[in-house]
Amino acid sequence: MHCLLLLGIGTISFAYADLLVDLPDGTILGREIKSGVYSYYAYRGIPYATPPLGNFRFQAPIPNKPWEGTLEATEHRSCCIAMTIFTELTKQSEDCLFLNVYTPARKITEKLPVMFWIHGGGFKAGCGNDDLYDPYALTNEDVIVITINYRLGIFGFLSTEDNVILGNAGLKDQLLAMKWTQKNIEFFGGDPKKVTIFGESAGGMSVGAHIVSEKSSGLYRAAICQSGCSLTKTSFTSQSNPRKAAYEIARAIDLMISEHNTTIEIRDFFLNQSANVLTEAFNVNSESGPVIEVEHKDAYMSQLSYDLVKRGNINRVPLIIGTTSEESVTVLRMIPGILALFSLGYDMNPRIIIPPNLKPKPGTNLDLLASKIKSVYAGNGTFLGNTSTFIEYASDTLFMRSTIKQVELQSKYTPVYFYEFSYFGAVSHGIVEGVGKVGHGEDVYYLFNTTGHELTTRGEFLIRRKMARLWTNFAKTLNPTPNPADSLLKVRWPRVSRLNMPYLDIGEAIQVKYGKKKKEMAMWNEVYYVYGQQPFDGF
Ligand SMILES: *[C@@H]1O[C@H](CO)[C@@H](O)[C@H](O)[C@H]1NC(C)=O
Ligand SMILES: *[C@@H]1O[C@H](CO)[C@@H](O)[C@H](O)[C@H]1NC(C)=O
Ligand SMILES: *[C@@H]1O[C@H](CO)[C@@H](O)[C@H](O)[C@H]1NC(C)=O
Ligand SMILES: *[C@@H]1O[C@H](CO)[C@@H](O)[C@H](O)[C@H]1NC(C)=O
Ligand SMILES: *[C@@H]1O[C@H](CO)[C@@H](O)[C@H](O)[C@H]1NC(C)=O
Repeated sequence: MHCLLLLGIGTISFAYADLLVDLPDGTILGREIKSGVYSYYAYRGIPYATPPLGNFRFQAPIPNKPWEGTLEATEHRSCCIAMTIFTELTKQSEDCLFLNVYTPARKITEKLPVMFWIHGGGFKAGCGNDDLYDPYALTNEDVIVITINYRLGIFGFLSTEDNVILGNAGLKDQLLAMKWTQKNIEFFGGDPKKVTIFGESAGGMSVGAHIVSEKSSGLYRAAICQSGCSLTKTSFTSQSNPRKAAYEIARAIDLMISEHNTTIEIRDFFLNQSANVLTEAFNVNSESGPVIEVEHKDAYMSQLSYDLVKRGNINRVPLIIGTTSEESVTVLRMIPGILALFSLGYDMNPRIIIPPNLKPKPGTNLDLLASKIKSVYAGNGTFLGNTSTFIEYASDTLFMRSTIKQVELQSKYTPVYFYEFSYFGAVSHGIVEGVGKVGHGEDVYYLFNTTGHELTTRGEFLIRRKMARLWTNFAKTLNPTPNPADSLLKVRWPRVSRLNMPYLDIGEAIQVKYGKKKKEMAMWNEVYYVYGQQPFDGF
């Protein structure tokens, strides 16, 4: 209200005028944010879709409607309802399809590259807000950053595997936000032809989904997958049986529901429940994530990813892809005793080491197959008592194997820059015995300033500057190290070639290395190609 009045009498300052942006749908007002000695302009909580409420629940999103007057985009709006991980920080609602735009704190006259961030959280948690993703290190390198909310858990990924509840609503939200970016970002000074999509964990897997979905074609010109990409399918970020899960969730609310009920009855039943009841019931199901939709013209994803990447049937844009040096330690150090428990479990039931998505050929000797996998990590010994071997196995099987496979397959078609993040900072919260120390998610604390994970040491802040430089160089020029004379980076990061697979080790020193996981990948290749049944979904 206040600002409208000011506008009316024409007394606003220039800085204030810079914060007003006229979009095709209406005018918005942002604000300047101070982050330490840095600052940027923030336009928070911009609606990009009609609220997905009532009968729109579970459906693909519909573009937002224009508004009258000036929309104050100075504070965040609600995060999407999720599991409880971040609840203390955020207000959650089903009405959550908002995005945030961050620009350098000045009047922008040239067209800046745009970095479009998709947050992680296992497709069931997380939010795009700047208490988690303060982008100052990126805007300080003169790019525009967009962060988004997309529907999570039951609201974003429920599917009855028919045309009643199609699934992938959360990915379709991301897609709509990417279309919003094409239509609107020039009014903030951004270049719609220079959009890089990037994300971590489920966000990286989302980027991977946009790489293989033709629906995302032309909406970006570069991609960055951090700890998850097209071929990463963990048991908690993909769905083994979405339709069965939908029925189980319904039964968690009403015991009378059975497989005799139709999917239309199930949908109508869900439409009549409160968001809280649904969220609670969803907890019976640990799985959430992308599904293969029945064939229809708006299907976001109707084919398995592996063959698409192998045949180069993808959006052929340059890719940065990598993992942290020991992905699994994040989980294993969170819960005391869990490491020993897992190690013992795998020692006692050796066959659980066989990846669920492998689908071994009939007649395969499963015990032999299991020992083939285990022996690469633990020799003839046990995991229990030699836990670093279990940690390495778990890191490989969750994120590393699929990442290296994507590097190998996709580099035949597009430039691919492969990295490993191994910088062990004070923000790492101690270690458990392991090979590479640096766990899942730690790379994100360097790109973004995250409440509760603030950097403190000089070394950490230096890594933040270097990472921001590499990532924004890529957004600007499609090459993370275009200038060999750059005194901050002092490195040239070569792309993967037919002959070898270099990777950039982002650690205490930033240097190029070769031969990542040779022995382990030789084993996994044999396991998948000799014993597995195609078509694969992930790897
Ligand atoms: C980072 O975030 C913290 C709060 O979480 C804030 O105190 C600090 O100013 C922010 N910016 C920088 C550059 O550290
Ligand atoms: C499920 O099917 C039963 C038997 O046809 C019916 O009585 C019940 O109303 C159905 N439940 C819902 C939620 O539609
Ligand atoms: C469910 O349906 C009943 C009967 O039509 C209605 O009274 C109730 O408000 C509905 N609840 C929700 C959460 O939509
Ligand atoms: C495991 O034991 C078998 C039989 O004792 C031996 O042939 C094999 O080399 C051992 N493997 C490793 C990795 O130590
Ligand atoms: C742990 O396993 C590795 C790999 O097989 C082996 O080389 C090492 O000797 C083992 N360490 C212990 C303490 O058993």
